[in-house]
Amino acid sequence: MLPSGNARRKSAGNVQHNRPRERTARFTEITELRGNLIRLRPFLSVEVDAAWTGLSLQDEAAHPRPRPEDWQETASESFRRRLSRSGRLWRGCLDLAIDRRGRLVGQIQARTSPKQTLAPGVFEIGLVLYRAADRGQGYGREAVELLTTWLFDTGLAERVQAGTAADNGPMRSVLERLGFRFEGIMRSVAPRDDGTRIDGAMYAAIRSDWAEQRW
Ligand SMILES: CC(C)(COP(=O)(O)OP(=O)(O)OC[C@H]1O[C@@H](n2cnc3c(N)ncnc32)[C@H](O)[C@@H]1OP(=O)(O)O)[C@@H](O)C(=O)NCCC(=O)NCCS
Repeated sequence: MLPSGNARRKSAGNVQHNRPRERTARFTEITELRGNLIRLRPFLSVEVDAAWTGLSLQDEAAHPRPRPEDWQETASESFRRRLSRSGRLWRGCLDLAIDRRGRLVGQIQARTSPKQTLAPGVFEIGLVLYRAADRGQGYGREAVELLTTWLFDTGLAERVQAGTAADNGPMRSVLERLGFRFEGIMRSVAPRDDGTRIDGAMYAAIRSDWAEQRW
């Protein structure tokens, strides 16, 4: 059952919800999720190029680029369209900007069916802080906490999972400190820039874990 509007707003920041019509047509909008260090909000149209550049700085393990257009120097049309829908869960994809005092520092995404082949109630999250200077200051951890809490509070998620490269110490630390459970190693799960493949570490939080740790 969905919590009441007030309860949701209290725990998840300034959030707008449109009443779900049916499971597949669910339309949910976030105007802001505010934390102590950062806030999550929709992208502005003027930020598309900065986001594209920021992602292009990442290696493939953090930002997979399976299609030729993903390697363009300028933002692809599909990326522009995707960010124009940010803040909305649209066809199983929700993108948000990570904002530190008015500055775009990164982005976070939650994916579910039909975009991903995941069971109902399961979301996968991924995030990037574009520049090394913004890492190690707790922004990523707060972003994951805000979005995961929102996914559970709205009733959309029963399970929130995150896979990361097994050697990605910072991301694993973020997930472990937030109480995500380590579920195992996914061998040879994704390609690296150099043609080799990486092992992945899978973490997940389920509704009862999250509630238990936060009360
Ligand atoms: C992974 C990532 C999102 C974590 O966000 P973050 O804001 O850096 O996370 P935190 O500040 O909570 O730091 C997490 C841990 O990594 C360490 N760390 C991360 N980046 C660091 C840096 N540049 N310098 C020093 N320490 C760093 C922190 O000290 C902290 O360690 P601790 O938990 O033992 O104290 C961010 O580092 C990032 O965007 N990395 C590149 C892209 C990426 O790997 N994305 C994840 C793909 S699944």
